[in-house]
Amino acid sequence: MKKIQLFGYNEELHDKITCKKGDFKKQINNIKKKQKKTIDIKFNKLNFYCIDKIITFALRLKKEKIIIKQPFSVKPLNNILNNWNKQINKYKQKLRKNNISITTNNELIELLDNLQKKSNEQDENDLLRLLGIISETIFIGPNQLLLDINNRCNTECVYCWIHSPHIKKKTYSMDQYKKPKEISFEIFKRIIDDATKIGVEDIVMVGDGEPTIHSQFNKLIKYINKKGLSTMLFSNGLTFNEKKIKAIVDNNVGTLQISISAATPKTYIKLHPSTKKQEFMNLKKNIKKLAKYKHKKKNKRLRIVIVNVINNLNYHELVKMTNFAWKVGANEVGFQLIDLRDYSMYLKLSKEQITRVKKDFKKIRLLTKIYYLLSFGKFFVGHHLDRQLENINFNTGDWSENVYTKRGCFIGWWFAYYRLNDIFTFCCSIKEVEKLKHLRFKDIWFSDNYNKFRIAGKYLKENKDLEFKDGRKLFESKCNNCDNTGHLNKIQRLIKEFELEKFVFNKFEETK
Ligand SMILES: C[S@@+](CC[C@H](N)C(=O)[O-])C[C@H]1O[C@@H](n2cnc3c(N)ncnc32)[C@H](O)[C@@H]1O
Repeated sequence: MKKIQLFGYNEELHDKITCKKGDFKKQINNIKKKQKKTIDIKFNKLNFYCIDKIITFALRLKKEKIIIKQPFSVKPLNNILNNWNKQINKYKQKLRKNNISITTNNELIELLDNLQKKSNEQDENDLLRLLGIISETIFIGPNQLLLDINNRCNTECVYCWIHSPHIKKKTYSMDQYKKPKEISFEIFKRIIDDATKIGVEDIVMVGDGEPTIHSQFNKLIKYINKKGLSTMLFSNGLTFNEKKIKAIVDNNVGTLQISISAATPKTYIKLHPSTKKQEFMNLKKNIKKLAKYKHKKKNKRLRIVIVNVINNLNYHELVKMTNFAWKVGANEVGFQLIDLRDYSMYLKLSKEQITRVKKDFKKIRLLTKIYYLLSFGKFFVGHHLDRQLENINFNTGDWSENVYTKRGCFIGWWFAYYRLNDIFTFCCSIKEVEKLKHLRFKDIWFSDNYNKFRIAGKYLKENKDLEFKDGRKLFESKCNNCDNTGHLNKIQRLIKEFELEKFVFNKFEETK
């Protein structure tokens, strides 16, 4: 055998693909000792995107100083296979005289063919993210960028991770909450500008407080709108006066998630003990006003969602919550199971209560079908609870036990989260990837460091103990009730829809 087989331009990539530690060094030595003369570059789904670097490296092994500067462009996806073939044929001819051959494996051809056929303008970004998962690299920004814009809140939900009146000893990095803090417009603008450039679709304003009380709230949502991105806003709705309603509707907010978690004043007060008796009715009136104004302005973009965190004080009100959402003019009713912490254990649902929730949820599906028809297709029920109930552990209340260690966690391709203490965290359970400081968001997102965590998440079972900058581990007990379940389910659905299941994990290539 006079050929060496080259899979990468460095040890890490080559040995990863061959699954043979030390193979890269061995092959390079063979060339250097002139024991093997021909280089066969083998392209597959894990290395095709760095064609420029691999060919340049092979040429250097042949003592040629040519640098290939043009990386393979995966865009547009609807021509990806044609473009690949075109480039490969061009290089094949040029490299023959250098004793370098090129082969593309069948799996890569099949993958590119599949993408070329299935891609469409609307799904292009998501498909690029899926291709990133498959190829273990990053081609585009996250679908969602979550921003903590302030940490103050105007109420205290008893179940809240941050502001519950029952929290005595704050659980993590709580110092910052002693001082009210909000994002400056300058940092906000810097992040949003990058987000626009790298293909982020949604900016989510939520986090550790009530976003509508940020001192420059209008300016922030106006800026997102100006940049052509969509805003998803989480709010408790308590600030909804005429001015706020106008700001939300007129600045084209895409989704407004209003956390209420009750269908009656009595339950509302139990869950928000600091609110006054009249508050619930005011809230109801104001959401109605908001829906009316949206209607008046013929705003078809805004989706009003009523969010309910289900616990043992409100589990019996699911049907009423659905009726509440319908009556106030919302477009969706959403439910999510309470994420329990030590201070909120008293809110844990019993087995019987979970059984009742499951039963009521079936009723709600029927009820929302009626509302869907009555509203000519404008009223829905969110899928989140459904998915949580699928995997629920009756004893612990956990909904994603063993789920992501089995199927892998792909959140690193879909979601980014900037917090007020200047860090980007890997997921909703705080794990520091990088501080923003003097860096740009786009540089952090496309960095090797970020990619290391992404790939580790894909193989979560094998990398449970990988540590982030703040010492937090990749897998923690929180992964058993993962707050990013919504995204992760969506990714699974898309992988299935685009028939990409067989490409996601690796059947490593045999090398001789
Ligand atoms: C922390 S709040 C902040 C944003 C805003 N103030 C609000 O009320 O929506 C963000 C979201 O987290 C949800 N949430 C808070 N604590 C929760 C818990 N223990 N379990 C599940 N969801 C929770 C809230 O209902 C809300 O939808």
